[in-house]
Amino acid sequence: AKNVGVLAMEIYFPPTCVQQEALEAHDGASKGKYTIGLGQDCMAFCTEVEDVISMSLTAVTSLLEKYTIDPKQIGRLEVGSETVIDKSKSIKTFLMQIFEKCGNTDIEGVDSTNACYGGTAALFNCVNWVESSSWDGRYGLVVCTDSAVYAEGPARPTGGAAAIAMLVGPDAPIVFESKFRGSHMSHAYDFYKPNLASEYPVVDGKLSQTCYLMALDTCYKYFCYKYEKLEGKQFSISDADYIVFHSPYNKLVQKSFARLLFNDFMRNASSVDDIAKEKLSPFSNLTGDESYQSRDLEKVSQQVSKSLYDAKVQPTTLIPKQVGNMYTASLYAAFASLIHNKHSELAGKRVILFSYGSGLTSTMFSLRLHEGQHPFSLSNIATVMNVAGKLKWRHEFPPEKFVQTMKLMEHRYGAKDFVTSKDCGLLSPGTYYLTEVDSMYRRFYSKK
Ligand code: ACO
Repeated sequence: AKNVGVLAMEIYFPPTCVQQEALEAHDGASKGKYTIGLGQDCMAFCTEVEDVISMSLTAVTSLLEKYTIDPKQIGRLEVGSETVIDKSKSIKTFLMQIFEKCGNTDIEGVDSTNACYGGTAALFNCVNWVESSSWDGRYGLVVCTDSAVYAEGPARPTGGAAAIAMLVGPDAPIVFESKFRGSHMSHAYDFYKPNLASEYPVVDGKLSQTCYLMALDTCYKYFCYKYEKLEGKQFSISDADYIVFHSPYNKLVQKSFARLLFNDFMRNASSVDDIAKEKLSPFSNLTGDESYQSRDLEKVSQQVSKSLYDAKVQPTTLIPKQVGNMYTASLYAAFASLIHNKHSELAGKRVILFSYGSGLTSTMFSLRLHEGQHPFSLSNIATVMNVAGKLKWRHEFPPEKFVQTMKLMEHRYGAKDFVTSKDCGLLSPGTYYLTEVDSMYRRFYSKK
């Protein structure tokens, strides 16, 4: 198969959200900490009728319907998630309900888990399958689904929730440049979920930021090395039209792009103009460790990269700023923002993506975009996703109600023998919702 990549996408996020400005005031944080300090506008969350299974059922069903894909045409289904509902039964098996109904049980693939990286692992599995000798000519389907919730405290405003479904096959408008990839995998305790009785992670916030930036540097180094070996010329951020980052919160994305420019400066790459060179030169002798600690470097590099950030990164930030960290779906929601904002100008463009999952696993990889043929065209993907409509139809909860919902969800996590309110008034038609968990922990869903 040739030009393998993403043919179609659909995104779902809960219609329930809380404004960061209101949350900031409610939490007693200083004004501007969540909005300017973290760079976030709004945060989506699941109420008691939604979870990662219902969101992924909604995203998959909607994708199949809107692109008129026969469920029999799916030969591989891979799910990326770090939200544990069952320690053995995969989310993929819940999604099989959609396919069994149509007589298709011949579908490979299970779930992939490592923090926010599982979606990328799932996507690579599907792309590799289509490129391999075991491919049977049918589509791959990737689902990233997560509900990111944190205990009360500084990490709470960095939650979010969403599911993204992506159809994978040949002759795609979004093609993998599979040769250009750099990974960095290592052992770290920056963010992990050792307490199986709680949905909340244990997080060392400062360490997780440094781990993220170190992983970015290392992936970029390997990525550039492979590019140079194959293309015979140096890679710099000038060779990328857009750069998409895993987005726990927007401030880290701003810092990440600045860090790439600093990398280019240290490699003496052509992307760095004379003004930037002059401003960054005082930092050229810092050791790696010192460079992660230097507030001045952070400030100056963000300053000199600002206009490039506005051109290459800003169009990718809409959904992550409005919905929050969606863990495995976060990177792909950022990419979806780019398609939403720029779909008519993307043909021929190269997009570099950086995927990071704490613990830690990370990869930088490259996509090449083409307009494509209906229904698998960039403009149709933008129409189907209808990001503007979905953002507009949301319902803002006051912080008190958000906190109340989190308390109820803590109580419900791992629980059995309850029925939900079945209140789907805020959900749009076609959305799946949880109705009951019975005495055997079996979960039941309905579709609005
Ligand atoms: N106005 C404007 N900016 C402000 C204000 C204010 N009133 N108050 C604080 N700020 C700024 C700070 O200067 C800081 O920005 P800087 O880093 O550019 O200096 C920012 O707001 C955050 O303030 P901190 O004091 O650093 O925040 P805190 O330590 O309380 O929490 C953190 C931030 C660590 C990110 C926390 O939310 C967290 O742990 N989140 C989860 C971990 C995470 O997402 N890690 C990322 C990679 S791993 C993953 O994807 C899960």
